[in-house]
Amino acid sequence: MRIKLKIWRQKSRNASGRFVSYPVENVNPDMSMLECLDVLNEQLIQQGEDPVAFEHDCREGICGSCGFMVNGVAHGPLPATTVCQLTMRHFNDGNELVLEPWRARAFPLIKDLVVDRRSFDRIIAAGGYISVSTGSAPDGNAIPVPKEAADRAMDAAACIGCGACVAACPNASAALFTGAKMTHLGILPQGKPERDVRAIRMVAQMNEEGFGGCTNIGECTGVCPKEIPLEVIAAMNRDYFRASWRERDNVVTTIRPFTEWSTGSKLQVDPPSGR
Ligand code: SF4
Ligand code: FES
Repeated sequence: MRIKLKIWRQKSRNASGRFVSYPVENVNPDMSMLECLDVLNEQLIQQGEDPVAFEHDCREGICGSCGFMVNGVAHGPLPATTVCQLTMRHFNDGNELVLEPWRARAFPLIKDLVVDRRSFDRIIAAGGYISVSTGSAPDGNAIPVPKEAADRAMDAAACIGCGACVAACPNASAALFTGAKMTHLGILPQGKPERDVRAIRMVAQMNEEGFGGCTNIGECTGVCPKEIPLEVIAAMNRDYFRASWRERDNVVTTIRPFTEWSTGSKLQVDPPSGR
């Protein structure tokens, strides 16, 4: 196969970027999209040019490292597939593929197809955990978990944190990601004690990072390689509103212009510095 790759090249966040077209010869239809980029990069290195920067790790759809737009679609045209699993046989000989990085204010560009997704890490750090007492490991059967709850938690836990949902959303909302991370903990008995605080802190952090508000468009779930359902956003909203009511005496409201759907409330836990 012969493929033309039109790739967004940008040396750094503050440099100006542009599309550059590269012909790639002898593309094996069984190659993944990332392997096609490997072939291109070998060509570029041999020619003394800067290789295209892109993220990857597992290359089997489980780590969430890879991701970019292919012809305007996050992770490309195949449903439930990451770009590391997207094989070239799904394109035709002579096709031109346009590759662009995720574009969102909360994902600043690092180089070429690589963006900084540490905003996701900060959302998880804000509340995506459970606190456990130290000591020996508890018996696996000590806390019974209903089958339905276990299944729903596992479905939500399938989120790999790739960021495609944000890239596909016209509002650059992180509601699907945050909803998945809150839901897989909140459904299980082990995650219930911190459910309220988790909801308030994670939603506040999501707003703080500059993600847009969810307006129920649904593009996110359409491109999600793990098919995380919109239901997790409804669960997040329920948890958030219930927690805001219960914690109303401890919550400081910080309304921000981009948080149309929520009050952007913050749970004031630590006294402000200087007191
Ligand atoms: S919800 Fe889906 S698209 Fe969004 S980060 Fe998780 S796996 Fe990726
Ligand atoms: S490289 Fe791990 S999901 Fe694509």
